[in-house]
Amino acid sequence: MSVNRPAAVVVLAAGEGTRMKSATPKVLHAICGRSLVGHVVAASRELSPEHLVVVVGHAREQVTAHLAEIDAEVCTAVQHEQNGTGHAVRMGLEQLTDSTDSGVALDGTVVVVCGDTPLLTGETLGRLSETHATEGNAVTVLTAEVPDATGYGRIVRDGASGAVTAIVEHKDATDAQRAIREINSGVFAFDAQLLIDALGKVRTDNSQGEEYLTDVLGILREAGHRVGACVAGDHREIVGINNRVQLAEARRLLNDRLLTRAMLDGVTVVDPATTWVDATVTFEPDAVVHPGTQLLGATHLAAHAQVGPNSRLTDTTVGEGATASFTVAEGAEIGAAASVGPYAYLRPGTRLGAKAKAGTYVEMKNARIGEGTKVPHLSYVGDATIGEYTNIGAASVFVNYDGVNKHHTTIGSHCRTGADNMLVAPVTIGDGAYTAAGSVITKDVPPGSLAVARGQQRNIEGWVARKRPGSAAARAAESAREEAAGEG
Ligand code: UD1
Ligand code: CA
Repeated sequence: MSVNRPAAVVVLAAGEGTRMKSATPKVLHAICGRSLVGHVVAASRELSPEHLVVVVGHAREQVTAHLAEIDAEVCTAVQHEQNGTGHAVRMGLEQLTDSTDSGVALDGTVVVVCGDTPLLTGETLGRLSETHATEGNAVTVLTAEVPDATGYGRIVRDGASGAVTAIVEHKDATDAQRAIREINSGVFAFDAQLLIDALGKVRTDNSQGEEYLTDVLGILREAGHRVGACVAGDHREIVGINNRVQLAEARRLLNDRLLTRAMLDGVTVVDPATTWVDATVTFEPDAVVHPGTQLLGATHLAAHAQVGPNSRLTDTTVGEGATASFTVAEGAEIGAAASVGPYAYLRPGTRLGAKAKAGTYVEMKNARIGEGTKVPHLSYVGDATIGEYTNIGAASVFVNYDGVNKHHTTIGSHCRTGADNMLVAPVTIGDGAYTAAGSVITKDVPPGSLAVARGQQRNIEGWVARKRPGSAAARAAESAREEAAGEG
């Protein structure tokens, strides 16, 4: 990270992004749990700039609202018409200088980035500002050698010194210039005052009739200032997203980067090709991720946690040594050494204690499950508090909804509820109590008692012989009777 704290970072995000063919503004499309502009803002934050301004234009209400959500400190500047990148930066800087107390001028470095380059890292931005500072440049452009430079601005260098002399846009370039594979990434570090002065001199006599930010380089160079370049180590880092094919490619690249970092930090990822993680997910060493797993949002895996195969965890914490297989979980806390699945659905507010179990075909919502308590099979636990080391019988339903309101069920510690219970909330079962299989529990059960709430069984002797004479059932019953008589 850079020690050269910039005065400002300006993020350009006013463009429309027509090639996305989307009702959603381009920079709000998301990969790995963040919008495109969200990734750029996060990388920019690593420079700790004094000001961070995002230039918005197209769908600006939506973009501004999103920015306020992800970063309260971001300020926005409106560019009403997209008159070019130079114009956009001018709008951003005017917003800052207007809102700065008593018209204080910006002093130091201004970094400009585009809002649609989600792979750009804070590290690369740091390297750019460092080069800018150590070389004492008026402007430093981040460049990259790309396999196909079509559409990009080309970096023109002096034949003898190798110094950058200009950036020529693809549409304005000669054939010789189009052969250049070093391109302008659209990311720059500028001396603030020189930038402001030069932007005032940018003209619009080019093929697009726009104010090109790139023209600032030529203007500064002609005025005798130093123009430098910093070449990105990996050209894929600077790609801008224009369509959904590039969106998918960027997602794959970023996902690979996140998984590589996790693996180098000690996480076992069995199949990186089918594992998807958000940038916000955290791991402890020796966590294991099995194939077909998505880890999203603020999900955290503790040491020796095992997740997957085929699971999707959103905003879920998995405790040390816990397992979750074939599981969908949202906003859940899974305690240490707890066991979830296969085929479990944990909804928001589920808190499984240490060594607890939510087994096969079990759904939970807003439920606190105490240490060592097990809900092993085919059950719904909604709006409940269960103590420690209790066992919930198979195929039980916590009947929490009366059609109008949701109600709570409380079950104590060391209870044994029978299979196929309907626990009609609000209801409380005391510590150490039992319930009989097939019970519909509508009344509180005192500690230590057995609740039986089901119809009494009645056997009607000889019914099959009378009502189904000559049937296979009647014959089977008859021979069973004879056999029993023979034995007796
Ligand atoms: C620009 C550069 C080009 C570089 C390329 C890298 C200029 C003149 N050209 O070209 O040298 O190789 O980026 O991707 O700078 N934007 C605004 N307002 C505007 C115009 C653009 O906010 O009036 C924003 C866009 O939303 C986008 C960024 O600036 O985030 C770049 O704009 P875009 O139109 O994609 O620039 P290019 O023509 O591709
Ligand atoms: Ca353009």
